[in-house]
Amino acid sequence: MRLPSCWDARLRSLNEERRAGDEERRAGGTSDLPSIVLPMSLSFPLTATDTPSTPEKIAAVHAAPGFGVHFTDHMAVATWRQGSGWGEDAVVPYGPFQLDPSTAVLHYAQEVFEGLKAYRHDDGSIWLFRPKRNAERLRASARRLMLPELPVDDFLTSIEQLVTVDAAWVPDAQGGEASLYLRPFMFANESFLGVRAAQQVTYCVIASPVGPYFAGGVQPVNIWVTDQYSRAGKGGTGAAKCGGNYASSLIAQYEGAEHGCSQVLFADAGTGVNTEELGGMNIMVVTAGGELITPELTGTILEGVTRDSILTIASELGLNPVARAITVAEIFDRIDSGDIVEAFACGTAAVLTPVAEFRSHHGAHVIGAEPGERTLQIRAAILDVQYGRAADRHGWLRRVL
Ligand code: COI
Repeated sequence: MRLPSCWDARLRSLNEERRAGDEERRAGGTSDLPSIVLPMSLSFPLTATDTPSTPEKIAAVHAAPGFGVHFTDHMAVATWRQGSGWGEDAVVPYGPFQLDPSTAVLHYAQEVFEGLKAYRHDDGSIWLFRPKRNAERLRASARRLMLPELPVDDFLTSIEQLVTVDAAWVPDAQGGEASLYLRPFMFANESFLGVRAAQQVTYCVIASPVGPYFAGGVQPVNIWVTDQYSRAGKGGTGAAKCGGNYASSLIAQYEGAEHGCSQVLFADAGTGVNTEELGGMNIMVVTAGGELITPELTGTILEGVTRDSILTIASELGLNPVARAITVAEIFDRIDSGDIVEAFACGTAAVLTPVAEFRSHHGAHVIGAEPGERTLQIRAAILDVQYGRAADRHGWLRRVL
């Protein structure tokens, strides 16, 4: 179905109206609802659980956290309603939502999410890594999915309140990369089957103590290069962090699993030639000459916080960071000629995970079964900042407790 040409402009102006309305209400100057006094910003007050986890239970989770399987005692929630904006904010006991079967997100996938971590330093203090970036990206994703934008300060308050309340759940680094993974998300929570932007939206943050994303930790993984499926097309939602992107990657991910691969690499949907990203993380390669190459942002790739952090510190480590179009064929040829010596996946969840080989229907391009020296060096540099073991030269850390 082709939409009328005025549609894009109309969507944009709807977003603008919404944003202006929310901002006006926050400034206290609502002309439409003069009797309602709304707070300037959200505070996420606590309603504590009656059944807090025991220290023994938390210790047992910390001893074998896995990834995204255990959750803390509380969650942060807020509701946006057309006409009144954001409110009903609270930190409440962790628990299920009750959703009407006609809830819009269940039908039309109007949903966005984020991923960030809280790190415990050796002195016991707890820190976030570049959380404003996640806040801004959530706003950008929300704009693309026609969801309301949560102000950056409200995002930060929701995270900090939850981490403060559930601080006992933030693990020590445990000599590796243990942390509290935070998953903010927002979805269309309106009972209505018409296809339009929801007039009621739920925002929520849940928290999960985690170890490495891949079970093997820093052991190199194999990557399946699909020539059958695409992740995102021009004008699509590739740059947004929305559940639909991940759902559509699963079939290729499972195809990869059948070929012994833990992740799938997508090429661009238009030509099938340029490297884009993995199912759930960005990709980088290192050349023998010291170039660190990653696909440039084209609107179809997620603007990873870890990606940006690596590009920022690469030159401090003697590498030459380059974000440019790189074809899958170039990667294959240069691995085969020995000119690409390392490759890794990067993201909040995966940190940096080395790539052992790229596999496709046409054969394998092998880098090696051992993690590369540069990969380990960059990985350590990022983790050292996150865990307070190295100077925070870029002002990336934000203290919670
Ligand atoms: C992240 O790195 O935070 C991700 O979103 C990847 C994945 C777990 C979906």
